[in-house]
Amino acid sequence: MHIDIFTLFPAMFPGYLNESILKRAQEMGKLSVAVHNIRDYAQGKHRVTDEPPFGGGGGMVLKPEPIFAAVESLLINHQSDKYEDLRLMIKSPLILMSPQGRPFTQAIAQELAQQERLALLCGRYEGVDERVRQHLVTDEISIGDYVLTGGELAAMVVVDAVARLLPGALGAEGAADCDSHATGLLEGPHYTKPAVFREWAVPDVLRSGHAANIARWRREQALRRTWQRRPDLLLTAVLTETDKAYLAVLAEEEAGVLVEKGEDKS
Ligand code: ADE
Repeated sequence: MHIDIFTLFPAMFPGYLNESILKRAQEMGKLSVAVHNIRDYAQGKHRVTDEPPFGGGGGMVLKPEPIFAAVESLLINHQSDKYEDLRLMIKSPLILMSPQGRPFTQAIAQELAQQERLALLCGRYEGVDERVRQHLVTDEISIGDYVLTGGELAAMVVVDAVARLLPGALGAEGAADCDSHATGLLEGPHYTKPAVFREWAVPDVLRSGHAANIARWRREQALRRTWQRRPDLLLTAVLTETDKAYLAVLAEEEAGVLVEKGEDKS
């Protein structure tokens, strides 16, 4: 997969991109990332990329010209004088990172990992000129309900979440299949050596060597953790009859605890 990133701060990227799994994915030829400086496409002696908003108000707004010029020179083959719908001619999805976008999820990461090419546009300051939204980008993604100083960290989040899904990027094939959220549930606990640390022992089942028992324990732990921390996910997760029976046990357990504590309001 190839990812183009458009930003005013290209120096923010190399540190993160050149370590660990992202570095390895690039070395293995599974991922290539090109970071483009929007300022390089700005006109005039001062290469101005932002201006105050029309109508007043605080902050600065990214100008449309350098953004269109960058995208047109890198992602669009055909040049024309007419103001055609560029989104139909673009070589890859072009995603604006913005707090107004659709909330980023594992399902969206999986959807994006199917693409051969992706392009991410990082907003800054008060935002980008609305014509970029209307006539250039094909999608808009937010990484959460909070406002960052720009889209760069959000773009790195998307690159990271997508890159680790590329086949072979994590080493063992299928290593991402059991991730929290990949199955619609949170993952259960993990343990590694030593088997006993400060008198805290690893659950016996994990050291039993009994594959079926280990699989059942892991599934139950995933259900338990999701029930405790993110019960909303259980509404959409794919559940077997055995899963549902286990959830009923958890519900009974919880009801028992509430009665003991005298908190049962029913
Ligand atoms: N830019 C600023 N805040 C953002 C957010 N929450 N998600 C994506 N891009 C952003």
